[in-house]
Amino acid sequence: MVETRAQPVSKSRQALPRFSDQELYYLAEKFGTPYYLIDEATLRKNVSEIEQAFQEFKGHFRVAYSVKANFNPTVIKTFVSEGIMFDLTSSNELYFLIRCGGSPANVIYTSITETMAEYETILKLGVHKVVVSSYNGLLNLIEAAGRVGEEVDVLVRVNPEVHVKAELRGSIRHGKFGVQLDSPNEDGAIFLVKRILSTPGMNFDGFHFHLGSQIEDPMCYADALEKLESFILGARRELGSFPVNTIDIGGGLPVSYGKNVPAPKELSASLLERLNSIIQSLGDRFTLIVESGRYLSAESMVMVSRIVNVKKFGDFKYVYVDSGYHTLLDAALLKHEYPVEVIPGGSSTYPKTALVGRLCDPLDIFPTSSRSKLGGAEAGKLVVFKDVGAYSIVLNTPFHCQPKPYVLMRSTVGNYVVVRKGQDVEELFNEEGGSVLNVNS
Ligand SMILES: Cc1ncc(COP(=O)(O)O)c(C=O)c1O
Repeated sequence: MVETRAQPVSKSRQALPRFSDQELYYLAEKFGTPYYLIDEATLRKNVSEIEQAFQEFKGHFRVAYSVKANFNPTVIKTFVSEGIMFDLTSSNELYFLIRCGGSPANVIYTSITETMAEYETILKLGVHKVVVSSYNGLLNLIEAAGRVGEEVDVLVRVNPEVHVKAELRGSIRHGKFGVQLDSPNEDGAIFLVKRILSTPGMNFDGFHFHLGSQIEDPMCYADALEKLESFILGARRELGSFPVNTIDIGGGLPVSYGKNVPAPKELSASLLERLNSIIQSLGDRFTLIVESGRYLSAESMVMVSRIVNVKKFGDFKYVYVDSGYHTLLDAALLKHEYPVEVIPGGSSTYPKTALVGRLCDPLDIFPTSSRSKLGGAEAGKLVVFKDVGAYSIVLNTPFHCQPKPYVLMRSTVGNYVVVRKGQDVEELFNEEGGSVLNVNS
């Protein structure tokens, strides 16, 4: 890793870390644009914000980082050092976690594919908490556990089919994820619970749901918990009492990209009473897990791009930057209005300004938010895209032969560290098969 001495960061910035114009220009000169810059202190602050929000929960509480949001090894290592859990969805994510010094004992593993080979791999590597989402998936897990000779703590992923107000909804009627609470067939929650309870080596652990990402109204968590509680009470009447050790309410904590969204403490305020009353009604002081990818990582990172051209038509101004949706694909897919700021700023005489990327595609226009400041945009200045730490660098694509940009981190002691080297065009050429010999020779 390359270390560079930091430009001075003032005390107040350390308390609420913001990157100064001075440091962003300094890094642009040194590493070129576009580049991404992560603030380590913000990653750590986000963990403690979620933990503090659930302090009044009367059971046990764990935060799990959803590695899919940002699998940069230094980001993973930062969360490993915070002692939190990890929500993983592929054996390759587990590989990353282990290489970053994380323990498989701290993993909650939720597969979409649920194949036997995948389960065998992760159990051999030491994972023992697995969420199943189908009957065939459970059979594969039972077979894999038998082969590996390990016991598994099994959670059932349910689809509570509640209304979710979110950018990405994970719980829709007959949705792809989880099993129904009211289905009597083998891909229904009651059948899976019964099968787990009656299978040696499978320890029934609890329930999991994931309602969506960027959830704007926390009511859906309360609705889902209400449905789950009455399901559990009904299932106990039918199957006899069984313990519930874990309830995992998935991800979805929102980030305030351009509008007001509930903070973790507002989410917990609307849920704690219900959660604590579920402890009473079930008689189990279960562990509550909150998974989070977006909230834990988004606000920690900015992308810095340079303005390369401007074009004016009457009231309208196009501002061209040297990045594009290949560097912020999530913004293009979900129309995320990242707060954007030209530095140094200025006033604008143009009622409409469009921020556009370098790609030859009419869709390569950045959605901007009411918090965006595009005044003073001129060629040569920098543009800062804020809150881009989640689902951005993991979706980098080389469209138009664009190499992956540098990813840098400002550490808590104020150093800048290269946490992902920028690719050069020769590396990209070779990765794309450039070194394959002429097939006819
Ligand atoms: C099962 C599960 N948990 C957690 C998350 C993380 O969601 P978010 O990044 O919105 O917190 C996801 C995202 O897709 C998910 O599928």
